[in-house]
Amino acid sequence: MDSFSIKFGPVGLETGCPAGSTILDCARRAGAEIVSVCGGKGTCGHCVVQVKAGRVSPVDDIEKKFINPRLLAAGYRLACRAKVLSDGEFYIPPQSLSTMQRLQVEGNEISVKPEPSINVYPVTISPPTLADVRADFERIQLALSAQGIKARVPEPSVARHLSAAMRNNGTLRLAMRGQEIIGALPGGRNPLGLAVDVGTTKIAVYLMDLITGKTLDVRGAANPQAEFGADIIARMAAAIHSSADALKIQRLISDTLNEAAAEMCARHGASREDIVEAVVVGNTAMHHLFLRLPVEQLALSPYVPSVSSAMDVRASDTGLDFAAGANLHLLPNIAGYVGADHVAMLLSIDILHQEGAVLAIDIGTNTEMCLSHEHRLMSLSCASGPAFEGAHISHGTRVIDGAIESLRISNGKVQYRTIGGKPPAGICGSGIIDTLAALVTNGVVDASGRMLEHSLVRDSNGVREFLIARGTGDSPDITFTQKDVRELQLAKGAIRTGIEVLLDENNLKEQDIDRVIIAGAFGTYIDVESAIDIGMFPAIPKDRFQQVGNAAGMGAKMALISGSKRSESRTIAEQVKYIELASHPDFNKIFTRSVRLGQAPVRRHYLI
Ligand code: FES
Repeated sequence: MDSFSIKFGPVGLETGCPAGSTILDCARRAGAEIVSVCGGKGTCGHCVVQVKAGRVSPVDDIEKKFINPRLLAAGYRLACRAKVLSDGEFYIPPQSLSTMQRLQVEGNEISVKPEPSINVYPVTISPPTLADVRADFERIQLALSAQGIKARVPEPSVARHLSAAMRNNGTLRLAMRGQEIIGALPGGRNPLGLAVDVGTTKIAVYLMDLITGKTLDVRGAANPQAEFGADIIARMAAAIHSSADALKIQRLISDTLNEAAAEMCARHGASREDIVEAVVVGNTAMHHLFLRLPVEQLALSPYVPSVSSAMDVRASDTGLDFAAGANLHLLPNIAGYVGADHVAMLLSIDILHQEGAVLAIDIGTNTEMCLSHEHRLMSLSCASGPAFEGAHISHGTRVIDGAIESLRISNGKVQYRTIGGKPPAGICGSGIIDTLAALVTNGVVDASGRMLEHSLVRDSNGVREFLIARGTGDSPDITFTQKDVRELQLAKGAIRTGIEVLLDENNLKEQDIDRVIIAGAFGTYIDVESAIDIGMFPAIPKDRFQQVGNAAGMGAKMALISGSKRSESRTIAEQVKYIELASHPDFNKIFTRSVRLGQAPVRRHYLI
């Protein structure tokens, strides 16, 4: 029987699969965990995937029942019904990925040709004798020059390391950047690199093989700077008022990175000395706090960075404990609230080569977005606040077991799905948007945001609220209040205002947008239709949206392994025109319009 090569994105898994297997069977063989509530019987409609390449069996009646014709035409199929008839590639949308697998999305492989700035040269060093008392470095220089390679005099920290390495081993594998010696690599391993995305809340760390360009490992960690405040303003204030705190804030990051690097290296039989290069991206405040650059001017209007240009510094100067001469590269910033993470995101989505009108959005407490139109780039940032992370929402929660991640109202009844299938413990970001969308599309909340009469709306101690789930035992009812609606209106209004201003500056209408690329952990999991329903996203066909996961982390990886991608990031930063949102002449008018809820209704074709 024929066997086909089957790939799954965005999880980056691949397998061989016998002809005639369902896509769901292939996914299981590959280890890609697709949600299949009915176990593949074709009765739940959860296992939706998109055919990106290859031939599959014709659409059957069950698939027509769950998937609308437009999505069918765009290649969306039920994984348990469609059978593979050739080599193929399938995309698993976020809502079809199991929770555990979603956490791995950040580890996607990228297809960039490695162009490392580091070369490794094996050299055999003759030991000193009483008759030959030349210095250690002179011996190294001699051995290198025999291979036609010149070396600059190393800094003391590198020289210390080289002398020690020479006494342990007669043959050294020298990692060099141009004429600069970075260190002597232990064992026969390839040089390693670390790509880092420092977010205000989370840090993503990737261990990369600089020669093959492969991601060896990935680790996520909470940003420990939270002890100085959840938001960047509080952390900057702490750094401004105390140089000791500024140092502590900086060291919290380097300690986290050292720990993550040591753990990942150990898992791959390597050590931190194998890491010869690192790339760090983050918002401008994270960037400045990590380099201990002044942040006073960043915290006050007009919010000016200390340095915008890309920088190369000695990794050890920031407390990173890697190879003695390891280099740390920081991508350029654009403005006070549009940082190197935005540049990295734009790099990863190949923004310089996008055709048409492409909107790229990274949603967070601060949402950055860029509109590329006719190869002109325009970026801005808007203060969307922490509501989408569950903060300031009565029963809001982070992504935990039991969090309601998806919600619909069908025939007046609430249907929801919780993470891990556990009893409801609160509502996380994707569920929060779904809830508001369900209330709007079912007429429970009007366009002004007022909660209307409904069998599930009640007044509880003067609080108007919608009942989502009754509590059991000691646990309280899960509700969505009038105040929650107002919080979300401000958050979605800020994002929509940003989109409208970019469209306005380019004389475009929402229907002119060819693609919307949604980046970031939060954006990966939201239901695009819900975001359209509440009026946060433009009401354009769903197949124009693409959710790409942690694109800033991907950009950091690309800049780490490829010199030309690193220079492309500088071009991006130079080409972006920054727009100060609040100074737009029609800001107030646009914002007032943008907080209204609802768009042209979008039909739903498959339930949770
Ligand atoms: Fe339920 Fe496919 S797994 S419809």
